[in-house]
Amino acid sequence: MPVTVVIGAQWGDEGKAKVIDLLSKEHAYVVRYQGGHNAGHTVVVDGEKYALQLVPSGILYRHVTPVIGNGVVVDMPTLFNEVDMLESRGNSCADLKVSTRAHLIFPWHQSHDAISEAMRGDDKLGTTLRGIGPAYADKMRRVGIRAGDARDPERFARLIRERATVENKLISEAGGDELDVEEMVELYSTYGARLVPYLSDTISLLHNALADDAHILLEGAQATFLDLDHGTYPYVTSSNPTAGGASVGSGLGPRDLSRIVGITKAYTTRVGAGPFVTELFDDDGKMLAEVGHEFGTVTGRARRCGWLDCVMLRHAVRLNSLTELSLTKLDILDGFDTVKICTGYTLNGEPVIDYPDQYDVLERIEPVYEELPGWKTPINEMREPGDLPAEAKAFIAVVEREVGIRVNVVGVGAERDDYLIWETT
Ligand code: GDP
Ligand code: IMO
Ligand code: MG
Repeated sequence: MPVTVVIGAQWGDEGKAKVIDLLSKEHAYVVRYQGGHNAGHTVVVDGEKYALQLVPSGILYRHVTPVIGNGVVVDMPTLFNEVDMLESRGNSCADLKVSTRAHLIFPWHQSHDAISEAMRGDDKLGTTLRGIGPAYADKMRRVGIRAGDARDPERFARLIRERATVENKLISEAGGDELDVEEMVELYSTYGARLVPYLSDTISLLHNALADDAHILLEGAQATFLDLDHGTYPYVTSSNPTAGGASVGSGLGPRDLSRIVGITKAYTTRVGAGPFVTELFDDDGKMLAEVGHEFGTVTGRARRCGWLDCVMLRHAVRLNSLTELSLTKLDILDGFDTVKICTGYTLNGEPVIDYPDQYDVLERIEPVYEELPGWKTPINEMREPGDLPAEAKAFIAVVEREVGIRVNVVGVGAERDDYLIWETT
């Protein structure tokens, strides 16, 4: 299994980092392929929390070479803060590779993100305001500045000055605060110089590693239903977290991807605006939020909570060719008398089979639930499938039946070792 991809199967924060941490043991490279510092990936090791935004989660293992692929948008201040944080905690980032083709985020991207959210008035997307959308828009418009440009400091400074000058006009026309161009040129030139030693032709690096039989893990950020093409547009992010994006954003060919793991919580959460069929506004929703500590890693915003939606997961299997599913945070359901799983959708009383292609249709969908008895037992200490209460096993069996693929691991707590291997049962 040389190349494994880990992809969020819902709206993000599924616990991808914890599964990546677990899979990192058997992989030599861990590669981010899209997104930027809108991601918040948490790994808890012996009570110590690592919340990573840009550096691949595999960094916590010495044998892993962490790679930021061509599909990522890189905010240099965040990257270096993270490198400093990791190194101060004893995790060397000396092997970190950043693709020369990755695009850079600049302060004007953040200004545009804020302006465009403000202009939407009450209809905000609820972005992370990190400048992600505007940075990808510049990439598409072919005016972006790439990490590799930092190798030529004079040209790099010129590019920053040119772009900053143009962007300043747009920002001031939109009523925003102009940026100090020369200050930005100076600061970002310093960052650029610091970036150079990390730069790499990551595509050749990864293909050469494959030729040497190295195992590579591709770390998705965001998730299937935040995908620019396949998510609930316009309430999406500006990249492609789905499996096709893993290929484009790493430079590995589609046939190189051998194992594609979808990550889902045992329930559903979403941060920011957009349709959410199984969203709960009652005490059950409150209990999921409280017990699950559902507050965003990046922005601290409360995550919206609801029951597990297998219609979404079936669509995620199609879009990503998922080979297996990791079911995280099953322990959060420990206290419920009964738990629900959405197995189908209806619209105006008629069943809906395919995942709706318009967000306004999704807003009118009614979920069809299967209600199961809860287990009312803490499962946090359980490490063998056989230890789980019968009701928890039944829950997993319904997920497998409804989604049509096997569950490989089940998360029973936030700590690195809080999981059990399910797939052999
Ligand atoms: P990611 O963005 O998909 O990597 O997920 P986040 O790190 O943003 O959010 C997942 C949260 O759930 C983090 O705080 C994790 O520490 C935590 N977590 C992951 N798996 C489990 C689990 O099985 N049980 C519990 N209780 N917490 C988990
Ligand atoms: P991880 O990798 C959850 C959401 C934002 C907003 C929308 C667009 O930790 O799962 P953006 O700033 O990307 O333009 O915002 O996407 N969003 C996430 N939600 N987890 C994430 O990342 C997210 N990254 C972006 O809340 O609704
Ligand atoms: Mg997250």
